[in-house]
Amino acid sequence: MASNPYTPGQVPRILAGRAVEMRRIEGLLARVATYGELGGPLMVFHAPRGIGKTSLLRAAQRGAVESGFVTAWVACSRQQPVLSAIAHSVARALERADAVPTGNRWRGQLDRLTVEVGVPGAKVQAEVARREPAAPPQAAIGMLESLLHEAATSVRAHGGAGLFLLLDELHTASADEMSVLLNTLQNLDGERTENPLATVAAGLPVTPEALTRAATFGERSTFVSLDVLSDDDARAALVGPAEAEGVAWTDPALAAVVTESRGYPYLLQLLGSTTWDAAAPDAGTRLTLAHVKRGLPVARDQLAAMHRARWGAASRLEQRFLAAMAAAGDGNVTRAAIAAGMGVDSRAISVPRERLIEKGVIEPVGHGLVRFTLPGFGAFVRSLEEA
Ligand SMILES: Nc1ncnc2c1ncn2[C@@H]1O[C@H](COP(=O)(O)OP(=O)(O)OP(=O)(O)O)[C@@H](O)[C@H]1O
Ligand SMILES: [Mg+2]
Repeated sequence: MASNPYTPGQVPRILAGRAVEMRRIEGLLARVATYGELGGPLMVFHAPRGIGKTSLLRAAQRGAVESGFVTAWVACSRQQPVLSAIAHSVARALERADAVPTGNRWRGQLDRLTVEVGVPGAKVQAEVARREPAAPPQAAIGMLESLLHEAATSVRAHGGAGLFLLLDELHTASADEMSVLLNTLQNLDGERTENPLATVAAGLPVTPEALTRAATFGERSTFVSLDVLSDDDARAALVGPAEAEGVAWTDPALAAVVTESRGYPYLLQLLGSTTWDAAAPDAGTRLTLAHVKRGLPVARDQLAAMHRARWGAASRLEQRFLAAMAAAGDGNVTRAAIAAGMGVDSRAISVPRERLIEKGVIEPVGHGLVRFTLPGFGAFVRSLEEA
């Protein structure tokens, strides 16, 4: 049997679709490489969980490395100060590329930045201490600015195309951190030609709003939403990896998985994987509808486990919200319907609604409507009610 080429929960072997998004990133990088200047404002890709943000960023990173960039990847998280994570990732990237700036200044900058913005626990306290945006900490901005400037120019001085900073899960950054980041990039833009750097970020759908709240000019970032894959791209996501192993899909099998997954990239990988395991194919053979059907229960078990995890991570109030939402149906649900289901005024549901959007369990679809982000979640919640 050939080895399973599908990657549920991991970066895909073949990134299907996303040509438009990749071109936009390449546009930024081309500016850096060609003119040695800042690659435009912060570009932010936003989408619910499992749509392919990390996968897109990883593909962009691979491409950038091939074009001679030094890349620094930061997985932002609530547990860790984001600014010092940026500093450390940039430092490591320069070390790996043998492009560390000469002189003691660099080391000193790194240490100071860590002391200023990297004190463990400070992040949470700062969040609790104030709700209103205050003036951004100028010292931190100055330090991050000179760190990124030094790093980017050092990459160029060592013959590289420039520095490419990738920030995944940006929605977990605090308002302070976002403010420092945005102010820093704005300052670097003021001396655009001195800063051969591009920054691309990804986060849940709350990210644009959070950035705009953190600094009014945050709205001048470039926001790009990622959608599910088209049917053609969904087929490509299934066919490509199998083809590389010499295995083909029959048309009915392909059609079944494309329909079942509704273009949701995680589901495509999951169903591709369970179909593959059911078939245990050798090179030269085909995956059939019978294999798809045999794999389905395994995929459903996996999805059920994800449903349970999301339910378990919700507070009691959020669970009541989800139950009311599920009772109203599987499509887009109105605020009024959820409030009515909970027996409260529609203004009273704002907090759980925001939290669930932040967690990526539900997403806004305009006009106050929300829907579940994970297929089958509504049915799962209803099954709990019946139990
Ligand atoms: N363009 C694509 N082509 C093929 N598979 C993809 C594509 N994008 C994502 N996937 C697959 O979908 C799944 C989710 O991708 P990814 O982790 O990038 O999503 P995400 O938006 O970063 O999710 P999260 O918000 O949970 O971090 C992975 O299994 C990945 O292999
Ligand atoms: Mg991700």
